[in-house]
Amino acid sequence: MLLGTCRVNKLNHLEIGGCDTVELVKEFGTPLYVMDENLIRENCRSFLNSMRSLHENSEVIYAGKAFLTIEMCRIIEEEGLCLDVVSGGELYTAIKAQFPIKRIYFHGNNKSYDELKMAIENGVGRIIVDNFYELELLRDLAKKYPGKKINVLLRLTPGIEAHTHDYIKTGQIDSKFGFGMENGQAMQAVESALSIKGLKLMGFHCHIGSQIFEDEPFKDAAQIMIKFAKDVFDRYGFTTKEIDFGGGFGIKYRETDKPLPVKEYIQTLVTSVKESCKNYGLHVPKLLIEPGRAIIGEAGTTLYTIGAIKNIPGIRKYVSVDGGMSDNIRPALYGAEYSAIVANKANSPKVEKVSIAGKCCESGDMLIWDIDLPKIEPGDILAVFSTGAYHYSMASNYNMLPKPAVVFVKDNTARLVVRRQTYEDLLSAEVYLPQAKKVFLASM
Ligand code: LLP
Repeated sequence: MLLGTCRVNKLNHLEIGGCDTVELVKEFGTPLYVMDENLIRENCRSFLNSMRSLHENSEVIYAGKAFLTIEMCRIIEEEGLCLDVVSGGELYTAIKAQFPIKRIYFHGNNKSYDELKMAIENGVGRIIVDNFYELELLRDLAKKYPGKKINVLLRLTPGIEAHTHDYIKTGQIDSKFGFGMENGQAMQAVESALSIKGLKLMGFHCHIGSQIFEDEPFKDAAQIMIKFAKDVFDRYGFTTKEIDFGGGFGIKYRETDKPLPVKEYIQTLVTSVKESCKNYGLHVPKLLIEPGRAIIGEAGTTLYTIGAIKNIPGIRKYVSVDGGMSDNIRPALYGAEYSAIVANKANSPKVEKVSIAGKCCESGDMLIWDIDLPKIEPGDILAVFSTGAYHYSMASNYNMLPKPAVVFVKDNTARLVVRRQTYEDLLSAEVYLPQAKKVFLASM
C-alpha cells in the first residue's frame, strides 16, 4: 500500500519523499516517524480547493490534536488553513509557532478558566463553547476584559454518530460534548450567549465522528444544522454567520479501506447546506470544516528495527519491534489495523505470516496480527503505514521509552523536526531532593 511519495527504489528499499528509508534509519535511528511533506501539502490543498470551489466563503481548519508541532503549524499556515486547538498546551504551541492568532479555533469540553483567559488575552479567533459552565466562565471573563472581542460558536450535538461504516441517527443527547438539540439545551445556550455582554455569537459547530467512510452523515448533519439556524432566526432574529461541521473524513489504513475522495464528502456537504438554506430562505453562512486525520494520517510512516523473533511451532511467530503501544496506542485502544512492509526488502516475495509485537510489558501490546511478510530477520526495518495522525500526538513514555524522533521528508531531503527523547528528557520534570545523589545516565 504505497501512498503519497512512497515508492520502492532499485535497492528494493522503501523510499519516501525521495529518501531511502534505510538511510533515514542510519541517520536518525528507530523508532522513527517519517512525514511525507508533499502529501501533507497536497491534502491541505485538496480540502481548501474543494471547499472554495463550491463556496468561496469557507475555511479549512486543521485539527491539531492529530499531530501538532511548531513546524506543522508553519506548514498549515503556508497552505492557508486555520488551526483547531483543544488545550492550553496546543494553544501555546500555536502561539510559539507565531500562527496567526485570529485563525485559531479553541475547542474542548472542559476548558479551564485559565485556558479561556489565555485564549482571550492572546486574542484567538473563535472559542467553541461546549457547555453552560463555560458560558458562565466567559460571562466573567467578558466583564474582566471589556475591550476584548470574544467571538464564539456553540457546539451542538445533532444526534448523528458516524464511525467508518457504522452510521446511526440517534437523536441522542447522551454525549459529553456540546449542547443537545433534542432537549432544548441548544436553544437555551443561544439565549444565554446572546445575553452576555462582550460575547459575540457567530454561529454553530458540530462534529459527528471520526474515520467516516460515507457522505450520508454529512448530508444529514447539514440539514439538521441549517434547520437549527432557521429556528434560531425565527425565535431571536439572529442570523447565523458561520457553521462548522467538524472533521471525521476517513483515510486508508489497510488495502481494504475505501474512504471517499475528499471532493465527494465536500460536494455532498456543501450541496446539502445550500439546498437547505434555499428551502428555508436563509443566506448560506460561512462554512468551516476541521479535518485532522485526513490531512496528516496517510502522510506518516513509522520505521522500526526488528529485534527478537519468537517462533511457537504450529501456533504463531512473534516478531518484536523496538517500539509499540508507546508510539502507537491505536491497536490497543481501538483494535486498529495497519498495513506494513519490510522496508529493506520492500518487493521481496511474501513467504511467511507473522504477528508484530511491541516491546512494552503487556501481552496486549501487539501492533499487527497475522501479516504476510518476506523472510524476516533481526535488524530488518519494518515500515508501518498511515501512522501520521494520533500517533506522535498520543505517544507516551510508558515503560520509560523515549518518544521517537520526527523527520519531514520532501524532494530527496530529510529534516529533523522533533529530536528523539533522551533518558535525561524522561526525568526532566522530576524534582530532585537536595540530598539526591548525582545520577550517571547511560548514553543512547
Ligand atoms: N473537530 C473536533 C471537534 C474533533 O473532536 C475532532 C476529533 C476533529 C475535528 C478531527 O477529527 P478527524 O478529522 O481527525 O477525524 N484518537 C482517535 C481520534 C479521536 C478524534 C477526536 N476528535 C483515533 O486515533 O482514531
